[in-house]
Amino acid sequence: MAVPQPEPRIARFEKLAYGIFIHWGLYSLLGQGEWAQFIKKIPKAEYMKLKDRFTAEEFDGRETARIARRAGMKYAVLTTRHHDGFSLYDTCGLNDYDAVHSPAGRDLVAEFVEGCRQEGIIPFFYHTTLDWYQESFEQDFDAYLEYLRQSVELLCRNYGDIGGLWFDGNWSKAEADWKEDELYGTIRRYQPEAMIINNTGLSARGEAGHPELDSVTFEQGRPSPIDREGAGKYLAAEMCQTMNTHWGIGSLDFKYMSPAEIIGNLCACRKVGANYLLNVGPTASGRIPDYETAALTRAGDWVRLHEKVLYGGKPCSVAGQGGDFALETDDGIYLFISNLAISGNENVTIGPSGDGPRAFSGLQRKVSSVRWLDNDEPLLYTQDTDSGLFALHATGFPYGSNLVIRVAEADF
Ligand code: GLC
Repeated sequence: MAVPQPEPRIARFEKLAYGIFIHWGLYSLLGQGEWAQFIKKIPKAEYMKLKDRFTAEEFDGRETARIARRAGMKYAVLTTRHHDGFSLYDTCGLNDYDAVHSPAGRDLVAEFVEGCRQEGIIPFFYHTTLDWYQESFEQDFDAYLEYLRQSVELLCRNYGDIGGLWFDGNWSKAEADWKEDELYGTIRRYQPEAMIINNTGLSARGEAGHPELDSVTFEQGRPSPIDREGAGKYLAAEMCQTMNTHWGIGSLDFKYMSPAEIIGNLCACRKVGANYLLNVGPTASGRIPDYETAALTRAGDWVRLHEKVLYGGKPCSVAGQGGDFALETDDGIYLFISNLAISGNENVTIGPSGDGPRAFSGLQRKVSSVRWLDNDEPLLYTQDTDSGLFALHATGFPYGSNLVIRVAEADF
């Protein structure tokens, strides 16, 4: 059975490959994650008072986008409204539970979009569909859906061209009629090139939904390969993940990812052709914490070394063993090698002893040369084009380096 062709916006989205997810809102003032209001059973009237302390004084849209760019990311997804119902954008009279009516007194979504444009980052809007603030969510669902639709219409009309809308919360009322036709119809009317994504949540990772949706989602963990054979529409795939164990900042959360883990997760996504949406939780005043910036920037140095393949590389018929895998571009095949040793002197080298031959199958095209992307070192290999078997002699990291995952380019 055939695999359908991606529509142009979906093909463009796949090439964005790596994005920053930003969870920021009133909950950031509490420093206990974005679900604090619900989990700690904070009375709504009390929680709403956080608005009076929301100054956003350190939020800088351009600086935020710059951090993403230096990390090698191409798009950014901001929580324009999360489950607490507070909007970072000007709701233009829908209610006054927004940043414009807080001490911040600014439209933070406008600043975010402006900063993204200045840094060449494509802005996307996360928008909750579950709402703990709006009473109609429980009492008059149809009225709520119209409020939601009007909110989204504002986002579609007031900020120029955006990369997409990223919804989250339909899982909270799985049996309800969310009238998705109307919501997505509004988006297609004003933003025909925008991606429409709706998070299926932790319990339904990778599942397709409404036909207007453009991507499947994975939340946390590792994404699985997508089977598109016979599908009615080509869907992109995206995995979102926290750098720690919360989306909104957790001031007592110390379990942060290292640059090596970020590299590993990014590669796991690209291995199956999925985008990687990595989350940061800015402080109450809107600054991405230094430790997050540092880890992202360091991983970004690795991304830059592998630009040739990370954005455009696609899964192909060439398969590796264990953690090894291959991606294909118009220019060549790229072999991703993990668990490699550092070579040098036995008194100072530690780590896995994976230096040596690595086997791949499915490589029938005759290879003319192979070299590491990081240092151009030419590599030995043997190939049997009839069977497609290919063995690469993977040399260890030169002492003084450790790429975590090392990539070899095979040219034809
Ligand atoms: C979950 C959570 C939410 C978070 C989202 C990110 O659905 O409810 O807090 O925003 O995942 O993907």
